[in-house]
Amino acid sequence: MEIIVRETAQEMSKTAARVVARLLNSKPDAVIGLATGSTPLGLYQELVRMHKEEGLDFSQATTFNLDEYVGLTQQHPQSYHYFMHENLFKHINIAKQNIYIPSGTTDNYQAFCEWYEKRIEDCGGIDLQILGIGSDGHIAFNEPSSSLGSRTRIKTLARQTIEDNARFFDSLDQVPIYAITMGVGTILEARKIILLANGQKKAAAVAAAVEGPVTSMITASALQLHRDAMCIVDRGAASELKMLDYYQWIQAKMPDAP
Ligand code: GLP
Repeated sequence: MEIIVRETAQEMSKTAARVVARLLNSKPDAVIGLATGSTPLGLYQELVRMHKEEGLDFSQATTFNLDEYVGLTQQHPQSYHYFMHENLFKHINIAKQNIYIPSGTTDNYQAFCEWYEKRIEDCGGIDLQILGIGSDGHIAFNEPSSSLGSRTRIKTLARQTIEDNARFFDSLDQVPIYAITMGVGTILEARKIILLANGQKKAAAVAAAVEGPVTSMITASALQLHRDAMCIVDRGAASELKMLDYYQWIQAKMPDAP
């Protein structure tokens, strides 16, 4: 995995935005996998800025979101549909029909999950997947013990995730217990992956994902098996990496590399 350490969360977001922009400029009809949570907010702000000030064009792009809470309607302020619309889609020129987000209100989850997987495939697969990381090391809603070969399905959330995400709800018992999520296997099929993490609270999860063993107990560790995965972190999230000096040494030496 390529580890890129930036001083601040803002620089982390800008680095990720440059990767997205480079992809869209070289492949305007790229398929991009998107994440929710507080971590990618800076990235979305930067993409909106690039769209408005530099003409970054999303008109031919397709997006697939990782996950959604089961039971929340698209209009619910804590649904990931609402989050994506408010923080990205309504500010850029993406075509509505090219936006895919798992449904939290379908009456046939199994059929929906199969359809979602098929849509990704029919669109040519995901070119670039953006990921955040949960404090227990999960990606999307693939909680500890999720199969590393898993596909889009319903997951029961871990207590820690419910507690972490309770900050967005009025009370703990309002946090949904189930989510529909792309699987680890689905995510690993993306051609390129960027894992973002900022802040000290993510330091242990990042260290386990990047330097620990590959294990279903830290589903982000499966990225070690991917041939083009990048982990972009700020100082806080990098603070428990044992090989931090080495990653920075690589970065410093990059311009002279053969
Ligand atoms: C949720 C999402 C994940 C996200 C995680 C961390 O569990 N399903 O995709 O990475 O939250 O969120 P935050 O970025 O707010 O810490």
